Amino acid sequence: MTDDPLPDLPAGAFARQDGGDDLAFYAPPRFVAHIDEGATAALTAFYRQVLPAGGRLLDLMSSWISHLPVERIFAAVVGHGMNAAELAGNPRLARWFVQDLNRDPVLPLDADSVDAAMCCVGVQYLQQPVAVFAEVRRALVPGAPFVVSFSNRCFPTKAVAIWRALDTGGHAALVRLYLERAGFATVAVDVLANGSTGDPLVTVTGRA
Ligand SMILES: C[S@@+](CC[C@H](N)C(=O)[O-])C[C@H]1O[C@@H](n2cnc3c(N)ncnc32)[C@H](O)[C@@H]1O
Repeated sequence: MTDDPLPDLPAGAFARQDGGDDLAFYAPPRFVAHIDEGATAALTAFYRQVLPAGGRLLDLMSSWISHLPVERIFAAVVGHGMNAAELAGNPRLARWFVQDLNRDPVLPLDADSVDAAMCCVGVQYLQQPVAVFAEVRRALVPGAPFVVSFSNRCFPTKAVAIWRALDTGGHAALVRLYLERAGFATVAVDVLANGSTGDPLVTVTGRA
């Protein structure tokens, strides 16, 4: 018997080159764009399609920017991240919390309290992705979307080994596996930017 939700992955899949404290790594605020303008515009357009107007949103692994459509009004956007100054500078967040998900994957959110969730270019840093995604699913109302997006950039020393070993197709399959093991029902992959003229951007969306 094992409690490992991903026993089929190789040993050491979630090892990292830099095993130092993540909160210390993210202590200096980084008011930078992690994806280029084309990828950002494609993600915002995708959010316009899938995020319910007036809904309660969770932006997991957020920073000073949430990539939401400017004209779209939501009931509340809750942000999670690793740097208080970045989150305080995000104009879309109604409230936010700082939490190292590699230390504690349990989210301080009530069950069935969120209508849609997003996680933009952060999944490569998660060492317990299924535990975190299961928490997102618990917080979502049934049928609600969780949009996980990624590109081809990262802080390599903080990304988990399996992420560094895979290409874009492998990343999509891995995120799909995380979502399925966390109990998400339908999972869809969308290539929003193929990388031919700028940053690639792929979303993997699960429904709670
Ligand atoms: C590349 S930034 C992306 C920020 C934002 N989502 C965006 O699109 O600009 C990666 C984010 O992952 C989050 N992160 C990294 N390591 C983490 C950890 N151990 N626990 C929780 N979040 C983490 C931080 O919020 C960090 O800002």
